[in-house]
Amino acid sequence: MAPRLTVIGTGYLGATHAACMAKLGFEVMGMDVDAEKLAELAAGRAPMYEPGLDELLAEQVASGRLRFTTSYQEAAEFGDVHFVSVGTPQLRGEFAADVSYINTAFDGLAEHTARLGKEALIVGKSTVPVGTADRLAARLAETAPTVEVAWNPEFLREGFAVQDTLRPDRLVIGVRSQRAEDLLREVYAEPLAAGVPLVVTDFPTAEMAKVSANAFLATKISFINAMAEVCEAAGADVVQLADTLGYDDRIGRRFLNSGLGFGGGCLPKDIRAFMARAGELGADQALTFLREVDSINMRRRARMVELAREQCGGGFLGKRVAVLGAAFKPNSDDIRDSPALNVAGQIQLQGAQVTVYDPKAVDNARKMFPALAYADSAVEAARGAHVVLHLTEWQEFRDMDPSELEGAVSEKRILDGRNVLDPDKWRTAGWTYRALGRPQR
Ligand code: UDX
Repeated sequence: MAPRLTVIGTGYLGATHAACMAKLGFEVMGMDVDAEKLAELAAGRAPMYEPGLDELLAEQVASGRLRFTTSYQEAAEFGDVHFVSVGTPQLRGEFAADVSYINTAFDGLAEHTARLGKEALIVGKSTVPVGTADRLAARLAETAPTVEVAWNPEFLREGFAVQDTLRPDRLVIGVRSQRAEDLLREVYAEPLAAGVPLVVTDFPTAEMAKVSANAFLATKISFINAMAEVCEAAGADVVQLADTLGYDDRIGRRFLNSGLGFGGGCLPKDIRAFMARAGELGADQALTFLREVDSINMRRRARMVELAREQCGGGFLGKRVAVLGAAFKPNSDDIRDSPALNVAGQIQLQGAQVTVYDPKAVDNARKMFPALAYADSAVEAARGAHVVLHLTEWQEFRDMDPSELEGAVSEKRILDGRNVLDPDKWRTAGWTYRALGRPQR
């Protein structure tokens, strides 16, 4: 009989994983402490905007294969393989990750599984400090000897969560027994049959696979953003430079988009937690470059504020600024560590009247940054603006014709924080177009 699966923690990762595993034909139980969230999920509403996920949830709940609970006991009774996908946020005032939710989830499952005398595999999916799986396995060996631990990091991108889960670039499993490997091969039989590469490894390598991938991606983005700083000083064009670099297969064009830099719930916190963990392990020197990656990234936001101030004649007082984009990236309503909102907030603090528009993230932004003004469309946000800032590259903004905003703005000035708008199109229409790392005309 196919193993029955549970998914503990139904946030971004867990909600998607649960729905996708049900889609693959497994009986799945999602568990979370938040009953309200579970009621929404059961009604086919994901806790965030993610293309295709609402439909998938509704379909899988209706099929009877996907159900939810708030009880560890029920989860332990139901599942043979438990995926743990709870959050590991940055600790307040520190770089390190808070692993308390992970500990609670493993302990909760272990306690009930041991009481039932049942065999089970608990698979960590969350991004954790290297060494967490070893530590948890040692702990469970004492408290719940019938429970085994495995680690299976998740690489999904927001905005592509469903497709990344069903067809990931690679699957990585850290295991200590053939039984654990066999169980996970069974769970992932479909992607494996479709040719998805599988790496079977030890716990620390599996954990490192995730944090080092994120560190590399962050470094790639900060590399091109550092080049943008030099381009700006030298009068060179960072977009052409990125294209040129990208033709070299060894470098590759992806993740070389320069602009406002990275944000979101993963890259910023993950590189910081990685540095903190390396320090604990006595290897902090190896990752000091990530401090630079982080500061290059934060400088992008400061530079955008500076450029906006310049365009407002040297000061923000009495100026109106339109901000297009609030989510940390397009196709998402996630505003965690959003570069766009960070810039909007700084400008507002410096005295401008800022109005923000985003196709999906306005509700979340309003809750978090109630002092900013919000609009229902780009045109409305642009009304009376002395400068328009394009800060999250939604398709809607890429497709926008300058004439749409022309009647609304007070001055035809646009700053492209994502280097995706066509400078010629805007300049031909009579706009002052400026971008980070591109020559001024
Ligand atoms: C990231 C990783 O890609 C994913 O593998 C991991 O599981 C979680 O973290 P995500 O946070 O969803 O995923 O977003 P991603 O698409 O990686 O973008 C992260 C940030 O980098 C965004 O703010 C994006 O705007 C920025 N970015 C990305 C750039 O500034 N330039 C680029 O070239 C690419």
